[in-house]
Amino acid sequence: MGWYDFISPLYDIGAAGSGGPRREAVAQLRLQPGDTVLDVACGTGLNFPYIEAGIGPEGILIGLDFSPGMLAKARRKVERRGWANVHLIQADARTLSEELLSEQAGVERLDKALCTLGLTVVPDWEAVFNQSWALLKPGGRYALMDWWLERRNLFARFLEFISHGEVGRRCWAPLEESSADYSHTTFIRGMVFVAAGTAPAAAL
Ligand SMILES: C[S@@+](CC[C@H](N)C(=O)[O-])C[C@H]1O[C@@H](n2cnc3c(N)ncnc32)[C@H](O)[C@@H]1O
Repeated sequence: MGWYDFISPLYDIGAAGSGGPRREAVAQLRLQPGDTVLDVACGTGLNFPYIEAGIGPEGILIGLDFSPGMLAKARRKVERRGWANVHLIQADARTLSEELLSEQAGVERLDKALCTLGLTVVPDWEAVFNQSWALLKPGGRYALMDWWLERRNLFARFLEFISHGEVGRRCWAPLEESSADYSHTTFIRGMVFVAAGTAPAAAL
């Protein structure tokens, strides 16, 4: 059993304070009814209610995560809410590709993608970002929300212990470099950021 399988029963309680930045990340996607959205390292699906509200039943929501325990919690949310347009993929984010999306969800390209509290945790986070960014259609939106603590103080060490991540990663940097209209907002004294940008046609 992996770390996130182990903590999955209590994850939503621990993440209870994340609603504000999470809502802002989803707002930055500028969702439209019918959009196809990928939630990278979706965990227990805490973003799903906000995404579903934006895309409606005609949209497609794909949640990808490595942990069966986290995905089981996400699946329960999906079933409880009766969302019939959600595909949950249990896979390592490093294997993200058009083929994987096509096989598992019947789509190849995305209108929108987001990753919240994920890039500080996944291995090879730059590759994971680049692979998911490359799946966007021209003009597609990408949003990130995550921790960033420059100094490895006691709180940073605590966060790294509970997340098994690295909160000193400048996870927004590849998005800032790649996107046409990068935006960056911070929360909680600058320790949490929401970053967003649009994929230019030339990059695809
Ligand atoms: C801190 S949780 C964030 C979950 C969710 N995005 C949220 O905002 O609450 C990090 C998630 O990354 C997932 N994860 C870690 N490594 C992964 C990988 N290589 N591929 C896919 N998911 C991974 C974990 O299973 C966990 O669900």
